[in-house]
Amino acid sequence: MRILVTGGAGFIGSEFVRRTLLDSHPSDEVMVLDKLTYAGNLANLEPVEGLARFRFVQGDIADRDTVQAALHGTDAVVNFAAETHVDRSILDPDAFVKNDVLGTWILAETARASGVGRFLHVSTDEVYGAVPTGASLETDRLDPTSPYSAAKAGGELLVLAAYKTYGLPAIVVRGANAYGPYQYPEKLIPLHITNAIDDQSLPMYGDGQQRRQWTHVSDFASAVDAVLRRGTLGEIYNIGNPEPEALLPVNMEISRRILSVLGKPESLIEYVVDRPAHDRRYRVNLDKLGALGWQPEWRFADGLDATVQWYVDHPHWWRPIKSGEHHRAYYARNYADRSSFAR
Ligand code: TYD
Repeated sequence: MRILVTGGAGFIGSEFVRRTLLDSHPSDEVMVLDKLTYAGNLANLEPVEGLARFRFVQGDIADRDTVQAALHGTDAVVNFAAETHVDRSILDPDAFVKNDVLGTWILAETARASGVGRFLHVSTDEVYGAVPTGASLETDRLDPTSPYSAAKAGGELLVLAAYKTYGLPAIVVRGANAYGPYQYPEKLIPLHITNAIDDQSLPMYGDGQQRRQWTHVSDFASAVDAVLRRGTLGEIYNIGNPEPEALLPVNMEISRRILSVLGKPESLIEYVVDRPAHDRRYRVNLDKLGALGWQPEWRFADGLDATVQWYVDHPHWWRPIKSGEHHRAYYARNYADRSSFAR
């Protein structure tokens, strides 16, 4: 199989590429198309760089000509390319509409015209909105609350419409929060780990009691692979971690654990002004994914500790990002007005 992986230099996309080429499908070919925005990083693809079965093209999924050229000879497309960070979507929503809605549409339409056999679109569990109890089914209504999740909902609805209207051979997955190595240090876990290593404060939004269904990136990628190869066209599959909720701690407990593994004081936790429209809880039902025979390998407790250790061992990966102008400007913009907040 020859797979075009868009957003393949990002966090989850690059894990999918490394796994496909190095572990699970040693005869497959992968072409990565990635715009290399702030979150895309060629260092994430170093382990596959020299392989003859791997190629990289820099480009935008919203650019028809680039997409068309990259699609030549492609059997399947997996679309990871997206703006993904909720806080950035609140500061700069246009980029999310451009990439996650329009870019997704152009990629889907161009893929259909080129006759690909499968188009797997990676969406998010955030399209369901907050779920106070229970677990979201793929048939539940969508109720996105941030510009990020609303743009992702728009993108996936366009992909499903292209399946129904034009016969695009599409499948959608809705993924829970991922964590693990190579995650850009703006998301909760890598931000708090790297801040703690540097004795900087850990900004805690609101009361810190929000809950996510943390899924190790390697399990996320194996789930995408299962759906790509065994999923049914036109269907939606949730992706997440099936562990009981008691084993998936709230934000505050995660940050406390990070500090304890690193031997840092809890006084580094700083309550800050909450994110607007902050969803308190996500959880998805995984029966449909399980019926494909998928099983996770990681328990969150082990995965979190291993992830802390990965950031301790790989400062050469994250230090240039955190000291770079782009990250520093974002950090100042997102956190400056929040941090004087006292509870
Ligand atoms: P995040 O990693 O941004 O993922 P998402 O918002 O897509 O779930 O945030 C995870 C949780 O952590 C979420 O409840 C917001 C919270 N959070 C903080 O408390 N402080 C932070 O600095 C960040 C980035 C997130």
